[in-house]
Amino acid sequence: MFEELKPRAPDPLLDTIRQFRGDPRPGKLDLGVGVFQDEQGRTPVLRSVKQAEALLLETQQTKTYLGAEGDVEFSRALGTAVLGHVFGDGRVIGLQAPGGTGALRLAADLIRVANPNAQIWLGLPTWPNHQPIFSAVGIPLRDYRHFDPGTQAICFDELRAAMKSATRGDVFVLHSSCHNPTGADFTIEQWQEIARTLNEYGLIPLLDTAYQGFARGLDEDMAGARHVFGNCPEAILTVSCSKNFGLYRERTGALFVRAADTAKADAVRTNLMGIARTNYSMPPDHGAAIVRTILQDARLRAEWEREVGEMRGKLNGVRQKLSGLRINSLDLSPLAKQNGMFATLPLGKLQIERLKEERGIYMAPSGRINIAGLMATDIDAFAAALRSVLIDAAA
Ligand code: LMR
Repeated sequence: MFEELKPRAPDPLLDTIRQFRGDPRPGKLDLGVGVFQDEQGRTPVLRSVKQAEALLLETQQTKTYLGAEGDVEFSRALGTAVLGHVFGDGRVIGLQAPGGTGALRLAADLIRVANPNAQIWLGLPTWPNHQPIFSAVGIPLRDYRHFDPGTQAICFDELRAAMKSATRGDVFVLHSSCHNPTGADFTIEQWQEIARTLNEYGLIPLLDTAYQGFARGLDEDMAGARHVFGNCPEAILTVSCSKNFGLYRERTGALFVRAADTAKADAVRTNLMGIARTNYSMPPDHGAAIVRTILQDARLRAEWEREVGEMRGKLNGVRQKLSGLRINSLDLSPLAKQNGMFATLPLGKLQIERLKEERGIYMAPSGRINIAGLMATDIDAFAAALRSVLIDAAA
């Protein structure tokens, strides 16, 4: 059976973690996978999470099965936190999922079942796992340019043109905030135009949400996505709790779908439960129980909001410092206006390889850096490393 099976190349982001861990150099820098690090370079368990876990340890009475939809109270609490007043009109269903990736895969399976002709449109560059997730279920993919790394600007006209050329029923994947990998987010006016254009051409948004609170604030970061979700007759939104709750390995996420009416919403819910059942049966509980406990307890919630604010403060502080750098033609000033954990630098393959080999600086092969991997004290060394590869390239 396995005679013809060829080895598969490792996932480039996850492989960066492996390479970084195997590097013995003391000054190495991990700007690869999107994991938050504080000013001491740690990725701590959040204080609110520790307290919720202690509470769960004391009060949890059983570990019996929930169901394919997971923890319903978790989905309700998270739905309200993510979608605000847009959640809860009976047309929106929520389902717990094994992480944001699991939510995207559920969404992909649902799209395939509901409309086998639908195409998925991705603005490039995008999170490198988007394309494999949708391809895995056989959905045809289309793309357009979201961002120009040279000017560090969003190519909004190209999104507009893509929407005009799409077929009714096609799905557009949009990043709710803190675009991964560019940090370049839409303005509220652009979100309003996106909602109008989606409706004009009968298209469906899929809003991928993994960094709520990392740009300006928990509500502020969702203003555009909420506008689109609430103004399109059908909409899909995936959530990851990996970053803003620091629950990476707990695989905690959710999928929210808005349907045309309550009957259709129920059809969506039961189909999703069937998809989940034949895939992993039901999602892991622990992370969702933590998030539910935090969101339902005013004191824990306030603590969590403070911690999200601290993570945001760290990210924005590093962004400000980076944005002061000018190295040859590389001007990082646009980073100050971008958001979240990532920026995509216009570096070539060779430069990225040299940063790794000569300086122990690890980043995604696309030139994406995880801003959270830098401490204030690393900026000078990072700038010197960039200068060395850029000056040689210019010479
Ligand atoms: C990233 O983009 O680095 C993160 O979302 C982690 C992942 O799973 O790829």
